Amino acid sequence: MESYREIRLDKRKENYLYQQLADQIIGLIEEKVIKGEERLPAIKKLSGLLDVNIATVVRAYEVLEERDYIIKKPGSGCFVKSREEKIVNFASGTPSYDFFPIEDFKKIINHVMDKDGAKAFEYTLGQGDMELRRELRKYIRKYNIQSHEDQIHVISGAQQGIDLIVKALLTQEDTVIIENPSYTGAIGAFKSRGVQLEGVPLKNDGMDLKKLEETIKKTDPKLLYVMPNFQNPTGTSYSSYQKNKLLSLAKEYDFYILEDDYLSDLSFYSQDSRTLKSMDKENKVIYLKSFSKIFMPGLRLGFLVVPEELQSSILEAKLISDISTSGLLQRALKEYMGQGLWEKHIEALKNLYQKRFDLAMKEITEKMPEMVKFTFPKGGLNFWFELPETIKEQEFINQLEAMNILVAPGRLFFHEKTDKSYFRMSIANVEDKEIRQGLEKISYLIKWECAAKKSGKEQLIL
Ligand SMILES: Cc1ncc(COP(=O)(O)O)c(C=O)c1O
Repeated sequence: MESYREIRLDKRKENYLYQQLADQIIGLIEEKVIKGEERLPAIKKLSGLLDVNIATVVRAYEVLEERDYIIKKPGSGCFVKSREEKIVNFASGTPSYDFFPIEDFKKIINHVMDKDGAKAFEYTLGQGDMELRRELRKYIRKYNIQSHEDQIHVISGAQQGIDLIVKALLTQEDTVIIENPSYTGAIGAFKSRGVQLEGVPLKNDGMDLKKLEETIKKTDPKLLYVMPNFQNPTGTSYSSYQKNKLLSLAKEYDFYILEDDYLSDLSFYSQDSRTLKSMDKENKVIYLKSFSKIFMPGLRLGFLVVPEELQSSILEAKLISDISTSGLLQRALKEYMGQGLWEKHIEALKNLYQKRFDLAMKEITEKMPEMVKFTFPKGGLNFWFELPETIKEQEFINQLEAMNILVAPGRLFFHEKTDKSYFRMSIANVEDKEIRQGLEKISYLIKWECAAKKSGKEQLIL
């Protein structure tokens, strides 16, 4: 009972008392003040100690059970679950579900069902709900992308968007130029069609332009696939010069650019997070937007802005892929945006992620050994590291896994084999404490490995 005397509840605070109580008990469990297998105090006793209603303690214990911290044993009480060390997941690029605006979205779904009834469950247009497309048009206008509803195609996630472009535009004879490294899902989609893939290395401010132009001349590409803001996996942002250069090359050599804008909304320190589409005078850019990183990936919603001459082939590819994207969810997103909830959500998300981003930058600066090559991104969620030559990528990943740390292996992002060792660290789904602890362990392992290799010792015994 002693440990529970530390709990301080602020009865003036806005969040409910039961939530405060649950959060503080979680804190005590995480800090191992309350140990695994320990029995929680009887409800009446704790309510007496803290001078709160019995109902407050009951609800707090329910929250602890929902969040998997305790287990109720009928007739014996509530017990803290024994907790193995939590896995720090730097591999996942999926946002924390604590950031999903569930309450607002629940209200919106109910509103749509009340308003539209069965209509919400009919087939909808293959190109997407007209009212949603109007909202999306307004949304991208804020980012200086001028478009018409007819150019917008609603898709079931950006991955489907890439697949539709592949089906609509490319054959095995065609060449696609990609950044090297690039997004794994796009590499997979291009490979599935058997197109010729050419990778161009990235520099700090965009593609290696000399190599890009040489490759264009050599291969006469149909498409260039790029992520100009906070590229996945490297976090690289293209300079204004680079962005203009890509557009002029597309005009000169007559190819399309598929711009994958999965994250430009999370710009923290970029001088220029404009999209290529907002600068595209010649209509050479196919703009692809995902809502997965900035909203909720399970909604499977995204959209394309497509040059006129490609409209019908893309619509045809969509119809044979899945006929249309969920009508109910399209109506809900339209309503969500129309009621101004989108701006509120993005604002809050940006603030939360910026704090995490700043913390990661600080910890990396302080902890990462000098022999690791690294360039700070100006926004987004990804950090990309090149390991010293002596460290083998897969061995390193396995050793981190044994220390309960997951990162994405660099090789996943290359379309061809590479000899160098890399890894991507994403902060999409980690808490502050995990960033500190995780980076501590990663840098420790790198230092140890380099020292061990020098002294001839091959393996770190864990
Ligand atoms: C760069 C990039 N493009 C597209 C996607 C696919 O997004 P969606 O979930 O919208 O299909 C991802 C997902 O990780 C991504 O990282």
